[in-house]
Amino acid sequence: MKFAVDRREAAAASADVVASGIFEAEGKDERPPASLAKDDKGTGGLVTPAWKRKEVRGKRREVTVFHRSDGRARWVTVGLGPRERFSPETVRRAAAEVVRAVKGKGARTLAFRLASFVSPSVPSEAAVRALVDGAVLGGYEFLRYRTTAERGIEEVTVQLGEEHAAEERTLSAELAEEERVAENVLWTRDVANLPADTATPERLAEIARELGKEVGLKVTVFDEKDLAKMGCGGILAVGGGSDHPPRLVVLEYPGGTRRGRTVAVVGKGITFDSGGISIKPALKMSEMKFDKSGAVAVLGILRAAALLKVAPRVIGVLCCAENLLGGGAYRPGDVVKTFNGKTIEVLNTDAEGRVVLADGLAYAVAQYHPDELIDLATLTGAQVVALGDDTAALISTDDKLAAGLLLASAATGEPIWRMPLTDYHRELVKSDVGDVRNSIEIPLAGTLTASAFLENFVGSTPWAHLDIAGPAYTTLVTRKYQPAYQNLGATAFGVRLVSRYLQDMGRA
Ligand code: BES
Ligand code: MN
Ligand code: ZN
Repeated sequence: MKFAVDRREAAAASADVVASGIFEAEGKDERPPASLAKDDKGTGGLVTPAWKRKEVRGKRREVTVFHRSDGRARWVTVGLGPRERFSPETVRRAAAEVVRAVKGKGARTLAFRLASFVSPSVPSEAAVRALVDGAVLGGYEFLRYRTTAERGIEEVTVQLGEEHAAEERTLSAELAEEERVAENVLWTRDVANLPADTATPERLAEIARELGKEVGLKVTVFDEKDLAKMGCGGILAVGGGSDHPPRLVVLEYPGGTRRGRTVAVVGKGITFDSGGISIKPALKMSEMKFDKSGAVAVLGILRAAALLKVAPRVIGVLCCAENLLGGGAYRPGDVVKTFNGKTIEVLNTDAEGRVVLADGLAYAVAQYHPDELIDLATLTGAQVVALGDDTAALISTDDKLAAGLLLASAATGEPIWRMPLTDYHRELVKSDVGDVRNSIEIPLAGTLTASAFLENFVGSTPWAHLDIAGPAYTTLVTRKYQPAYQNLGATAFGVRLVSRYLQDMGRA
């Protein structure tokens, strides 16, 4: 999808589809909103009568297509819901709904009337960014294994109109930057959606190497022999049951010329999580191809850092292994020694994410002494129970880092919710046999005991953990509850969030 801003009033007339947002009728006020009269200059008077006969109400998710008798541009109104709940997220969803509504129906070019998506709570810059996000993310489909695909919108113009004509320069810059951010999410989804037969740990390492060449990142891959020398017993144990050996992948983005801060981003990269010897039930086990989503998000974040030239130095660490059963698989009862020397008593081989992250986190800290450490992981089913599948859990030992991530969350519409980490949770993960145990074997605060476990491997580095088990992907079961702009499959959750956080630290 290509994007441009256009200040000419007439520009919209040449698009296949023109879209404008429309607020919900307020209370008893049944008069047509003033914007309809404007729209009707373009439609030749189609929209206002539709409002009067209550065909167009401005409700969320309401998309109405109008056809002019002369066959020129189709006019689409998209409901924005009540004015007082209007936010950039409303605009993202509205843009996605428009793009989806016209997919496969012969339209290639689309013009959004910017003024209809702007309000005191959503200034023009935010509206432009949201339109780009919604159109790009909502138009996405994973096509690699499909032999048929429907064409959709290929060119989008944001029509500034007389209201925003004076902002052409700034809005065009905002649009160009957000186009890269959104495109980067699609790149990430394409990797995260790969099934486990293709996206093995070795293949993820190759993808990282290719990415490094493409955007200029230093990439180091540690194979199973390196990991043994380094003492990464956690990753080796989890990967032991698979014919595809584990990999620790490190990507380095050097950051700005001034001696800036270093942010390390670590991801759980379980290419398939069968549960291992503590095997999972068959139902929905296929979803566990998405258990690499944290590591793939790290790839996307490093790609964004390089493309957007963010100020901080950024280190990406991917902990890649396949959790299968076999003669080499680790077992319940095993004790494994990790990179920082601490030992883990394995009580459940299905609590494997924290075991690979133990090595990855400790390695990032020891090797790079980051100022901040962020990890992303589809870590616990308890996260989905607690917060559902749109909101990720944030657990942090640093209020400033947490506040920064919450700001980035509000700006990107990737919701996160902070949860506590206390001595209560720390006590629960202590082991009698080793230093920590990977499962407490009772269903109590699963997301938080997992966090308490991870804390043992980050030392005193300011740290934020994002448990993305729910929002990392959508499923057939939960799809109907998903925002319309997210597709079946990987969402690449966390990429826009953490990229925004890094962007807010400045430019190189
Ligand atoms: N990958 C799963 C967590 C998960 C569950 C992600 C559902 C996405 C959707 C993780 O490795 C896991 O199996 N966790 C266990 C931990 C337990 C054995 C302590 C869980 O949450 O049940
Ligand atoms: Mn598991
Ligand atoms: Zn897992």
